[in-house]
Amino acid sequence: MISKHLNDELNQQITYEFYSSHLYLAMSSKLASIDFVGAATWMRTQADEERVHALKIVDYIIETGGAVVITGFEDPTVKDDNILGIFEQSLEHEKFVTGRINLLMDIATEEKNYSAVNFLNWFVDEQVEEETTFDSIIRSLKLIGNSGTGLYQIDKELGSRVSVGATNTQA
Ligand SMILES: [Fe+2]
Ligand SMILES: [Fe+2]
Repeated sequence: MISKHLNDELNQQITYEFYSSHLYLAMSSKLASIDFVGAATWMRTQADEERVHALKIVDYIIETGGAVVITGFEDPTVKDDNILGIFEQSLEHEKFVTGRINLLMDIATEEKNYSAVNFLNWFVDEQVEEETTFDSIIRSLKLIGNSGTGLYQIDKELGSRVSVGATNTQA
């Protein structure tokens, strides 16, 4: 059984994960519209992953006898129309999500809910991995600058990311 406090914050996290998925789908579409087809595929896969994160939390709440509440959220806004700006915004967003995971971990730890701590550890690791990945793409994009060959190459590399689900129709 999970506490009402943790249950409420986990429900909030479901919303943030679905919001992340929407944001990355919007970014994927923007990337496709500026002809970065590979980066668009990469970001679509990321959107799929965020949906999986949301569903992981849904399942955990159900398993622990809590109450799942699915809510809406604001429209996602892609602030930039260039590839570097888009990846920078996504890293900023991931940092925000890491803060949210840390908050959930604080609650679980304070409540001595070790099952929740164990569950949330997966998300702690995932956030490290995602921040590192976004950061390394940003570093590469900065090195490449306006080099057409470099941009072509990185777009091709990003396009080789393997899809996690059946919803990635561009893979
Ligand atoms: Fe996530
Ligand atoms: Fe994420």
